[in-house]
Amino acid sequence: MKLTVTAREVGSVKADVFAILLSRKELKNEAGKRLKSLGIDESVLGDFKAAAGDMVMTYRTVSGKGASRILLAGIGDGRKSEEYRKAAESVARKAVDMHLGVLALDCSAMTEWCSHLKRKPQFLSALLVEATLYGAYRFERLKTGKLDQEKKKEAEKPKTIEDLVLAGCGEQLDLIEKGAGMGMITGACQNMARDLVNLPGNHLSAEELAEAARQSGQRGGFDVTVFDKEKITELGMGGLLAVNKGSQQPPTFTILDYRPEGKTKKSVALVGKGVTFDSGGISLKPSEGMGEMKSDMSGAAAVLAAVEAAARLALPLRIIGIIPATDNMPGGSALKPGDVITTMSGITVEVGNTDAEGRLILADALAYARKEYDPDVIVDLATLTGACIVALGNSVAGMFSNDDELADTLFKAGQTSGEKVWRMPLWEEYDELIKSEVADVHNIGGRGAGAVTAAMFLSKFIDGHKHWAHVDIAGPAFPTKGGSKTPGATGFGVRLLLDLLQGWS
Ligand code: BES
Ligand code: MN
Ligand code: ZN
Repeated sequence: MKLTVTAREVGSVKADVFAILLSRKELKNEAGKRLKSLGIDESVLGDFKAAAGDMVMTYRTVSGKGASRILLAGIGDGRKSEEYRKAAESVARKAVDMHLGVLALDCSAMTEWCSHLKRKPQFLSALLVEATLYGAYRFERLKTGKLDQEKKKEAEKPKTIEDLVLAGCGEQLDLIEKGAGMGMITGACQNMARDLVNLPGNHLSAEELAEAARQSGQRGGFDVTVFDKEKITELGMGGLLAVNKGSQQPPTFTILDYRPEGKTKKSVALVGKGVTFDSGGISLKPSEGMGEMKSDMSGAAAVLAAVEAAARLALPLRIIGIIPATDNMPGGSALKPGDVITTMSGITVEVGNTDAEGRLILADALAYARKEYDPDVIVDLATLTGACIVALGNSVAGMFSNDDELADTLFKAGQTSGEKVWRMPLWEEYDELIKSEVADVHNIGGRGAGAVTAAMFLSKFIDGHKHWAHVDIAGPAFPTKGGSKTPGATGFGVRLLLDLLQGWS
């Protein structure tokens, strides 16, 4: 997508459609006049109430200049950044649905919007561009179009937004431009994460995920090291190796290392669960919905995208991304219920259920992050438990932390980024549930509090680190109900992590 930021009025920009964001108040007071000046009768407003995300498409007879389509999009009261995000996403989704390749967005009210939000123009322009990219996203790379010959004409029309013009940016053009450029980066990185998550298991193995990380490293200018099975064995990563035992494909352990030029304010390790497909292993999952388990590497994708974006934004932080990856398969030499394994840290684990595999690979990744890098903060993201979906649903992630301040910062990052997290407890009462008769710890905790016992399990592998948080994104990463409007992966976690990192920058 090409981006242009201009002072020219939206009505004079050559585009397939131009979009005007309207608040409820504006709809009442000024919308009629404004439409008239654009040559449109206000009767087209019909039942439009300007709720965030609502839209009406209107048409005018053009006198030589500008677009004939004008898309009015509601921003509700215009007092929350989420309202602007919803509007821009809906506009973009609509433009792509209608094959409109050039979209001009009226930003002449930018100064007013910013004062309502108490935010700087670069924040809002970043958000608008990011949301446009996000709304324009489609996962179509596995469609060839071979069966759509009769629709050939359709196929020739633009499939995505090719040009985005932010028009009417007379005031503070520089700042708007700066923010818009940032939005291009964060939007593209979110969509990169979504592509990885949407790719099915046969198109994204652990090695292919590692290759995607290498390419990301080239774009972002950070180091990427990939450990192969031999190196993983040499390091004694018993958790990752155990999960990989039933597979035909080797595991990988990928380390992303972003070191900015100049001084850094903090070192942060981000750890992401990279199960490329989770069949459950010998504790096989029911077949219904099993295909969705291609999304079990959403934590890894979010970590990769966040590190790339942070590097491209040149944030003054040392960031280490750690991605343990394998599929979880029930092959003849697979891990069995009852097995006891030894993780890299030396801690032994009784495997009560081979479907609780994420925590086994994260055990090694967390221990490695702690031992090799001893970062100031460790945050892990994982599609870890169905129980977390039961607790919080499909649009909110569970968050666990041994550090109240970090938990608070994450909660706030969730509020500003729209990727909400809700804190759950890590109390010692829950330790009872993961005691093992034969090993140091058990990988399952019985029926109750499944998201909590999973988090308690992880806490055993950070070796007393004081600033750790775990985010269970099983619900929002790949929502089947009540999530985002574009089916499939959401890229949940990328914005959350970036907000967190930017707050420390
Ligand atoms: N990847 C799943 C969790 C999951 C479930 C993510 C649904 C997204 C949607 C995880 O590996 C898993 O299977 N967890 C088990 C743990 C149980 C065996 C203790 C679960 O939640 O059932
Ligand atoms: Mn599982
Ligand atoms: Zn899993």
